Amino acid sequence: MKLEGKIALVTGTSPNIMGGIAEGLAEEGADLVCIDINPDYAEQCAKSVAASGRRAIAIACDVTDETQVTAAVDQAKEAFGGIDILINGATLFNTKGVLNMPLDEWRRQTDVMLTGAFLFTKHTAKQMIELGRWGNMINIISTAGHQGEPGNIGYGTSKGGLLNFTRSVAMELSEYGIRVNSLTPTATDRTEGLERAKRWGVDWPPPRLGERSAGWVPNPSATVPLRRLPSPSHYAKAAAFLASEEAEMITGMDLRVDAGAISKYWIWDPGTEMAQS
Ligand SMILES: NC(=O)c1ccc[n+]([C@@H]2O[C@H](COP(=O)([O-])OP(=O)(O)OC[C@H]3O[C@@H](n4cnc5c(N)ncnc54)[C@H](O)[C@@H]3O)[C@@H](O)[C@H]2O)c1
Repeated sequence: MKLEGKIALVTGTSPNIMGGIAEGLAEEGADLVCIDINPDYAEQCAKSVAASGRRAIAIACDVTDETQVTAAVDQAKEAFGGIDILINGATLFNTKGVLNMPLDEWRRQTDVMLTGAFLFTKHTAKQMIELGRWGNMINIISTAGHQGEPGNIGYGTSKGGLLNFTRSVAMELSEYGIRVNSLTPTATDRTEGLERAKRWGVDWPPPRLGERSAGWVPNPSATVPLRRLPSPSHYAKAAAFLASEEAEMITGMDLRVDAGAISKYWIWDPGTEMAQS
């Protein structure tokens, strides 16, 4: 097991990607601090991890509230002695473009992704430095943080910002031996998320802000080089690797788990005859 004896704090533990990552880290031996603004998601994620034989606590916390974030980081120390791995994944989806995004919604969306990651990084890093504890961090990006997507201005901007936040923090914390990387998922197969929601007894997906036309439903066999979409368990394996000592010389890097989506030459459509030409 890659993470035996390590304590991982994961934010945004819905039954989809972050819940899958939390369960995947537990399979590799980590104990978990499950954080979500939705108490049921935090609670059920922790219960599932505990049922697998690892220790876990649930904390209902708004990642944008510094008092709640410092309390959560302190609670992790009280429960487990400190944090070894931080994974910033809390997200607010809102598919609106620059022309119709209300200011208050822009502020809230960018706050959840950027301020949330900033606050957990700041207070977890301070605790790691104070305790002299081996540690590393992973920020969850999206392929929408690498490319220009219309009608998703707050999301793409925040995720692009998190990419350079990752590099900047990696440089700043390198003197303490704290590694900071990011992981880029893409449009994700929903089968695991729906199965996990059923197993946990929670509703997912939650209602989402904004609208997306039917044309945006990805057709993996036509658009993604590997011809299928990744699942949360694929991201979990990559996160466990980045968080483990196998990645001890990797910092400031983005690991894309996107079935080749971002590397694809823009004209090439794997679903057309051009694929063979
Ligand atoms: N689903 C995808 O296709 C996809 C693709 C690429 C990247 N991602 C990224 O993967 C991560 C997980 O995505 P997901 O699909 O599982 O999302 P999700 O909507 O299922 O989960 C997001 C979680 O964040 C929580 N959250 C929202 N605001 C919060 C706040 N203020 N404080 C604490 N928690 C808060 C929500 O309650 C929810 O549980 C996100 O960072 C997302 O941007 C997702």
